[in-house]
Amino acid sequence: MAIEDRGDASLITHALASDVLTRLRDVETEQVEFRKGLVKLGRICGYEIIDGAMETEYVAVETPLTETMGQRVKGLDDVVIVNVLRAATPFVEGLLKAFPRARQGVISASRDEAAGMDEAGQFPISVDYVKLPDIEPEDTVIVADPMLATGSTMCAVLERVLEGQPEPENLFVISAVSAPEGLLAVGDAVPEAELLTVAIDDELDDDGYIVPGLGDAGDRAFRTT
Ligand code: URA
Repeated sequence: MAIEDRGDASLITHALASDVLTRLRDVETEQVEFRKGLVKLGRICGYEIIDGAMETEYVAVETPLTETMGQRVKGLDDVVIVNVLRAATPFVEGLLKAFPRARQGVISASRDEAAGMDEAGQFPISVDYVKLPDIEPEDTVIVADPMLATGSTMCAVLERVLEGQPEPENLFVISAVSAPEGLLAVGDAVPEAELLTVAIDDELDDDGYIVPGLGDAGDRAFRTT
């Protein structure tokens, strides 16, 4: 298992995840490779969630030759993936390779960068579009955003995801790069969420970007500025 508990968060330490993230960080990595990298990272993270957090059971299976026992992952039909638009779109495409039958939710939430950070280091968040499946108690809910910066967007997203719903069996927030501030903010606001990330970076700059980070993940994946 390549998930390591770091107190505030769990790190996905798979060597391939680190390799892909390093390519994503590289300023020379252009749009198509960047987007493919996010898809690949999502797939690796999905497999690591299965390996590290989901139970398996032994079942009888009939091969063309004989009967034998095999292992199946439990709960693969009870997965909800929430795509935090827009940078999470390629990341979620990768997660869906691991959880092809997941029910999907979409939330468009963005921080008002023009308004600036408040004293608590948070941006005002506007939530523009929400379409979520109902959550069942047996569900594993995975909320995906490749960049967990101040945590303001993720806190607003989690509030909407959990509003009026039963507590799911597992609640994961998955990101590629996190800032310590974001992990603390989300951990304080939603302590039941398990925070998974490939890297915990040093700090946020004055505009709320993660340093060293990888820049604006949405702009790099969608080639916008
Ligand atoms: N969103 C990004 O895409 N990058 C950051 O560094 C912070 C938030």
